[in-house]
Amino acid sequence: MVIVLGVSGGIAAYKAVVLARLLVEDGHEVHVVPTDDALRFVGVPTWEAISRNKVTTSVHDDVAEVRHVALGQRADLVIVAPATANTLAKMAAGLADNLLGTTLLATQAPVLVAPAMHTEMWRHPATQANLATLAGRGVHVVGPDSGRLTGSDSGPGRMSEPAAIAARARRLLAPGDLTGLRVLVSAGGTREPIDPVRFLGNRSSGRQGVAVALAAADRGAEVLLVAANVDGSVLGEVEGHPSIRIESAGSAAELQQVVEAGAGTSEVVVMTAAVADYRVAGVAEGKIRKEDADAPPVLHLVENPDILAGLVARRRPGQTVVGFAAETADSEEELLDFGRRKRRRKGVDLLAVNRVGWNAGFETATNTLYLIDGEDRAIGRVEGTKRAAADGLWDAVAALRPGSPAAPA
Ligand code: CTP
Repeated sequence: MVIVLGVSGGIAAYKAVVLARLLVEDGHEVHVVPTDDALRFVGVPTWEAISRNKVTTSVHDDVAEVRHVALGQRADLVIVAPATANTLAKMAAGLADNLLGTTLLATQAPVLVAPAMHTEMWRHPATQANLATLAGRGVHVVGPDSGRLTGSDSGPGRMSEPAAIAARARRLLAPGDLTGLRVLVSAGGTREPIDPVRFLGNRSSGRQGVAVALAAADRGAEVLLVAANVDGSVLGEVEGHPSIRIESAGSAAELQQVVEAGAGTSEVVVMTAAVADYRVAGVAEGKIRKEDADAPPVLHLVENPDILAGLVARRRPGQTVVGFAAETADSEEELLDFGRRKRRRKGVDLLAVNRVGWNAGFETATNTLYLIDGEDRAIGRVEGTKRAAADGLWDAVAALRPGSPAAPA
């Protein structure tokens, strides 16, 4: 997708550099249009290096390409971050005395603004009236946040964090192909208690599962995210999303309870959570102390129920059940072979397999998923950021859904 990132002259321009990077990492073609004032904060070389595209600020550059309107016409989304009080006023009035102004008038794409200014300027009736005008025209607004401003003062006026602006951009760009679909996604890894302070766990961070939940919600689904020990910073990416409800589960038994309760009202269930296959028999009531033992303790394990297999056995008509598998394998062939065997054992409609190892798969931002369908066919490989992998997974799920032109007969 083509994104124009307008940058106006505020100190928060430095944060827009991070935003530009996030948008590029999402795979978008990003064109930065700074105002002359913005260039006093961050220069052209930085914008060009980060966006990987030429940066011009004047309507008199590249006149042959009719650049003053071409960018706006090509854009799928225009973001203005930071949007100063002055730029918001110009937008409200429809002024076009720079390249950003002409771009904004020429575009039919959605526009997202991230205001940034001092609290007094933000609260001024003129700014509020301009914002109301823009909102009335369908302009989307993210922030501003409350907090420390440039000087020692604090209050509302801080530009939203780049990650929050990128999240809104993703939502605006996402297709609405999952609208109305009720989806349950489990994420993270279960912890099986040994005593009140210790557990058996695994290395799943929950990043891939959270990305799967977010991608579905951005595409219109109503999502129940069942989070098993997902790190707060990862969960922060979805908190406050209007279409995501989060429920927590600690152990496999808790996850089973929450997932089975939610599955009854879900058209799609995606089990990305790493569920412990075994739990400790006879969890100690109190902390196990070294001084109470003459020898190292022996942990007796009992098998946990296979939640996914249970979901498949009780699948409602038309329900799509998706499993995940993290495997160590020496080759792609071996990985697919493990995947096919697991797909059959679980009976799922789709299995996403990824390769893990001591240094691969966990706590990283990127992933490669191999997709195996209900007939054991390898139907694709999706890779990139965990969000890109999640979108690839949803493309495959959407194609399997009843009524899809690509759905199996
Ligand atoms: N799963 C589950 N309940 C379990 C174990 C796994 O629902 N008790 C789900 C996971 O959420 C995942 C899929 O099954 O979607 C595959 O998990 P995995 O741990 O790879 O499966 P296992 O059957 O435990 O196979 P392995 O012996 O390779 O661990």
